[in-house]
Amino acid sequence: MTTAISDVEIKGAIKKFGSNIVLNSIDLEVKQGELLTLLGPSGCGKSTTLNLIAGFLEADQGDVFIKGKKVTKVPPYKRDLGMVFQTYSLFPHMTVYDNLNFGLKLRKIAKSEQKKKIDRVLELVKLSGLEQRYPRELSGGQRQRVAIARALVVEPELLLLDEPLSNLDAKLRHELRLEIKRLQKEIGVTTIFVTHDQEEALSLSDRVVVMNAGKIEQISTPTSIYKHPKTEFVFQFIGKSNSFEGMVTSTDQERIMVQAGQEVTSVSWDNVIGENRTFQNGDEVKLYIRPENIHISESQEAVDGYELHPAKITQLNYLGTSWEIDVAFMGKSLQILTNEYRSSWKEGSEVFVGWKPQELKIIRKE
Ligand SMILES: Nc1ncnc2c1ncn2[C@@H]1O[C@H](COP(=O)(O)OP(=O)(O)OP(=O)(O)O)[C@@H](O)[C@H]1O
Ligand SMILES: [Mg+2]
Repeated sequence: MTTAISDVEIKGAIKKFGSNIVLNSIDLEVKQGELLTLLGPSGCGKSTTLNLIAGFLEADQGDVFIKGKKVTKVPPYKRDLGMVFQTYSLFPHMTVYDNLNFGLKLRKIAKSEQKKKIDRVLELVKLSGLEQRYPRELSGGQRQRVAIARALVVEPELLLLDEPLSNLDAKLRHELRLEIKRLQKEIGVTTIFVTHDQEEALSLSDRVVVMNAGKIEQISTPTSIYKHPKTEFVFQFIGKSNSFEGMVTSTDQERIMVQAGQEVTSVSWDNVIGENRTFQNGDEVKLYIRPENIHISESQEAVDGYELHPAKITQLNYLGTSWEIDVAFMGKSLQILTNEYRSSWKEGSEVFVGWKPQELKIIRKE
């Protein structure tokens, strides 16, 4: 294993505003060249974390390191970073060129170099030719790209992006997201990207940091966050899920058997969420299943590895490439995402639903 110095490290950061504990002991390492996203609901402390790294805020306790050097007391302009703010603004009275040149002048870059650097970065964000436009003469997406270009043009060690796509429509968001990913890999700049959009985080990141109420719930790769959530919060925050309640009836080496209403279902030990991994008969539990992991069929005939239970269709929604089907199951509504649609199905149809034990998640009810 290599022991390269992390590009950014936060150790034991605590931040309070008045009596409100906004960051409750955050530890975080960002590797060189990595694109890391901070993901979590509004108010969980993402921007505060980014501002600690940028130096706009100082933690009450704990330290920040950049390239192994303690920067806790170092002001933002000495931290060598590019930042795009959440409520970002370009200088409205300056052209695109002057907006980009601002940071270069501050850094006393030679005039001959200025144009070269600006040309190159405009090419990267695909805005060549728009140098003389003012921000008001650009579309929202173009403005965001100028903001990103302005952060990049000074060739920072570290790029900090706070919800840079949040004011854009879905299509543009998607396009720019891909562009940021491409740019980041091309330049190799270590990047921290803040978002509350889980799809954005999963599609962009090398690793995702899921935050909740001032704490880090999990740091992992996108697939691992999705498939192996460490906490109930992460499971619920990432993707859709159905939940129902049950009681443990028995356990063996492979599985935990759970009685849920009239039905008995089983869960693999691998799928226990949370720290508490011991289960005894009579324990009350919550079971979770993702909509795309529910199998729906017309007959109860066993299908490979699925345990099937009776249910009734309550709603059918066509989504273009798949169907979203709501069924009543044990007095609860389950949402299913499937391609296995039968034209005979309608509201009220009796069907069978099931899942593989390895797709079901289980957590002890507190
Ligand atoms: N300067 C401040 N003074 C007092 N409270 C603040 C200040 N800045 C942030 N907060 C509070 O700290 C908490 C975390 O704020 P932060 O901006 O880090 O959240 P966020 O995760 O970025 O949320 P969003 O997704 O809405 O941008 C919130 O409860 C917020 O109200
Ligand atoms: Mg924020």
